[in-house]
Amino acid sequence: MNKSALIREAARRAGINIRQAGRGVEATLEVIARELGRRREVTIEGLGQIKLEIKRAELLPPLSQSNPQSVPAGKADQEADHAGGEEFDSYKIQFGGDMKEKKESDANDETDVSDTAIGLDVGTSRVVLATGAAENARTVDELNAFIALPYSKLTERIFKQKNVPYQLNGGTELQVYGNEAARFANVFNIEVRRPMSGGTLNPTEEQSMNVLQAIFQFLLGKAPKTKNLRFSVPGELSDGGSSDLVYHEAMLKKTIDAMGYNSKAVNEGLAVVFAELEAENFTGIGISCGGGMCNVALAFMSMPVITFSTTKAGDYIDQSVSSVTGETANVVRTIKESSLDLGRAPQNKFEEAFHTYYDNLINSLVDSLRNALADTKNLPKITEAIPIVLSGGTACPRGFDQKFRKAIERERFPLRISSIRMASDPLTATARGCLIAAMYDA
Ligand SMILES: Nc1ncnc2c1ncn2[C@@H]1O[C@H](COP(=O)(O)OP(=O)(O)OP(=O)(O)O)[C@@H](O)[C@H]1O
Ligand SMILES: [Mg+2]
Repeated sequence: MNKSALIREAARRAGINIRQAGRGVEATLEVIARELGRRREVTIEGLGQIKLEIKRAELLPPLSQSNPQSVPAGKADQEADHAGGEEFDSYKIQFGGDMKEKKESDANDETDVSDTAIGLDVGTSRVVLATGAAENARTVDELNAFIALPYSKLTERIFKQKNVPYQLNGGTELQVYGNEAARFANVFNIEVRRPMSGGTLNPTEEQSMNVLQAIFQFLLGKAPKTKNLRFSVPGELSDGGSSDLVYHEAMLKKTIDAMGYNSKAVNEGLAVVFAELEAENFTGIGISCGGGMCNVALAFMSMPVITFSTTKAGDYIDQSVSSVTGETANVVRTIKESSLDLGRAPQNKFEEAFHTYYDNLINSLVDSLRNALADTKNLPKITEAIPIVLSGGTACPRGFDQKFRKAIERERFPLRISSIRMASDPLTATARGCLIAAMYDA
């Protein structure tokens, strides 16, 4: 967390404006810096003990001048542990659980010439980061989810030791986010909470931006130092249902830019075109079927002609199959991800339900595509046959592409289709496409 993020959060929590919070935070940091400069530790009753370990250059520049031989992080760690003693009555300032990751990536800072751009797929289920060269992108992902546990110093201490990504919420909660959230949810047999639903920010989750920010920070700690970032956003809903896309995009941009980036949004379907259709001059249809939405873009020479989204996707499958089989949505999702084969006839009631709802999802997706093509005035006269690329977690089961092909072939399609194929890596296509968009300023 940098100083401006700290000021914004202080303003939000205290219900005061940024200028007032800025003055308060500045004054507090100055006092802490002064005391740390004198004694390398400050004890604030009711809060605990703060020891000098924070990266000096970032937070407290004057201190590094007044105290050039500050305590190395390792030594400060030992001291803090020792000071904590049996009672764990002191702790260091902790700005989320990502400090270690940040230090590691600082240490082996592998900047290379291709590290000029970052792609970030902000999905309902997962957030995926893509970096490096376009043809050989590196990707990492985290679940877009969290769980909240009651605060205890002991638990926090263990989280630090085990590098569990967490952040504090108002001193009363420990929020475990990302992939670790699913592990904890399984152990405690609780559902994870999710910052997004149906492709955009979850309006019923008050912690959504806090948690997204922590997940972004965690992932971006592993990214090259460039400001050039593209993040994915869904298209308008095809059924014309009310959409909070403007707010969703604005909030993501604000949060990402506050971390020092200069970000822009890219449509998710178009990102799939960028990632997969270079050989076809970025002409064709890119489709991403995720957790909350299916996103579609028809592009001609990299320019979007049609973009839209539908809300039947992975979560719809989980909830629908759960309601007709009596199993929890969690169990349904686990079966779906581990063993669903849509290429063979259903063998039991589970598979029957999966086939039924997948057919329904695919048919409504293809119907929406037909309608969008029919409704678009001035559709470019694309005479050559164009490809369709399928991506996203929901398109992963074997046989999905066959079902999709059948739905396209059911009636005459308004465009000539050359091929229907799966993306090279369906789970990272959107992030890789965002990376390409950032590289070429597309
Ligand atoms: N192997 C698999 N088989 C079937 N479904 C899968 C598989 N892997 C992931 N999924 C499902 O795919 C969905 C997540 O896909 P993805 O990560 O592409 O979504 P997202 O980008 O986070 O969401 P969205 O784009 O809708 O906002 C979840 O519903 C998940 O259960
Ligand atoms: Mg997605």
